[in-house]
Amino acid sequence: MGNIAAVILAAGKGTRMKSEKHKVLHDIAGQPMLFHLMDTVQGLGCSKQVLIVGSGREQLETAIAGADYSAEFAVQEEQLGTGHAVMMAEKSLSGFDGDVIILFGDTPFIPNSVMEQMLEAKNNKANKPGIVVLGFEAADPGKYGRLVLSSNGDLERIVEYKDATETERAISLCNSGMMVVDGAKLFKWLKELSNDNAAGEYYLTDLVACARADGSHAVVVNASEQDVMGVNSRADLAAAELAFQSKKRAEMMASGVTLIDPDTVYFANDTKIEADVIIEPNVFFGPNVHVSGGARIKAFSHLEGTTIGENASVGPFARLRPGAEIGDKAKIGNFVEVKKAKLGEGAKVSHLSYIGDAIVGDAANIGAGTITCNYDGFFKYQTVIGKEAFIGSNTALVAPVTVGDGAIVGAGSVISSDIDQDALGVTRAKQRQIDGFAAKFRSERLAKKEQK
Ligand code: UD1
Ligand code: MG
Repeated sequence: MGNIAAVILAAGKGTRMKSEKHKVLHDIAGQPMLFHLMDTVQGLGCSKQVLIVGSGREQLETAIAGADYSAEFAVQEEQLGTGHAVMMAEKSLSGFDGDVIILFGDTPFIPNSVMEQMLEAKNNKANKPGIVVLGFEAADPGKYGRLVLSSNGDLERIVEYKDATETERAISLCNSGMMVVDGAKLFKWLKELSNDNAAGEYYLTDLVACARADGSHAVVVNASEQDVMGVNSRADLAAAELAFQSKKRAEMMASGVTLIDPDTVYFANDTKIEADVIIEPNVFFGPNVHVSGGARIKAFSHLEGTTIGENASVGPFARLRPGAEIGDKAKIGNFVEVKKAKLGEGAKVSHLSYIGDAIVGDAANIGAGTITCNYDGFFKYQTVIGKEAFIGSNTALVAPVTVGDGAIVGAGSVISSDIDQDALGVTRAKQRQIDGFAAKFRSERLAKKEQK
């Protein structure tokens, strides 16, 4: 494949999202939809990527600056149509004579294989097309542009729904909007576009007629409707999320992960789960989670920015937040929250705890209700718990504090000083017993109640 440049259109307002946020920055599986597309584009090895931006462009600039993508911005001040949008890339692509792949920022799931197919078709030695359009058979062609083929199967022209005759509207082969165009000709052809049509816009679709008038071939590559799914509304966003999740669930199961009820498990784009992990129903993975083999994630757990060791057990109802590193064979039980804390091999936090900004040694046992008090309202402090230490239930560990290896903390303690290795730390009032008090108390109260 030759030299490739990508132009991604994202200047549209996306009014149907009814959002302050730019349409293409809405998340699908924990990452902006635009980034799903840009990840695929990166796989093509483009020499240039140009993002056409208009309204809300500051948001896009901020998002791209904070991510690992190399894209140039070209501004389309006024949205005068898809053809007009591509014209804005002229400066960025001056002198470029390779293949230009034109994509829409709100159509995030074009597979790499489909892009490759378009590029292969463009480089077909036999008919050397100047333009390759990605088409699809729509179940409900609705308002999509229609692809009109000539008798030899070449693409003759694209007609927008608004401009189409009844016969043309009866065509079910639709325009996805995406295309690959000869970079040496692209801007020359774009200059020939007119806005004399039903929408009063410069249609990118008219490029086909321009190419043919110039003696070039135009051909169609077919995609599935799923591949060219676009997002215009919140309902579309939910449909795109579902499509992503369905695919990811199937991939996970195919790679050896058990999902007891696949439809209730949500993955992020980058979730990594090794074979022989079992995931119970209703588990949510936010970004950046890695689960090692043999682990079990029990029902209703929420994980993000977390690594889980081999054969570890998490949940039910566990919350693992960024920086949680759960060791091999460790156990995180119900209603336990872990944040920025490393738990050693076989460590256990079985019930009702908050462990934040902490290091917990191998085989340490953290009793029910233990809290690391890591924050004084201004700063965060660390708790270190040694290996094989035993923290009694309902302990407050006031950080910064260290509990030595093998030490024991008595239940109900508030620990604010370090405890040495193998020592007992306990901060509890001495227990008293008043014989007969309870019985006397009950009879007094009963008598009082009967008087009323
Ligand atoms: C376009 C196609 C139509 C196709 C459909 C598929 C044209 C003329 N029509 O129509 O044949 O069936 O997509 O979904 O191309 N954009 C800009 N600047 C503009 C206008 C649009 O950046 O001035 C961007 C939008 O943000 C969007 C993309 O281009 O990402 C497509 O624009 P949209 O208005 O949705 O085109 P459609 O009318 O749907
Ligand atoms: Mg559209």
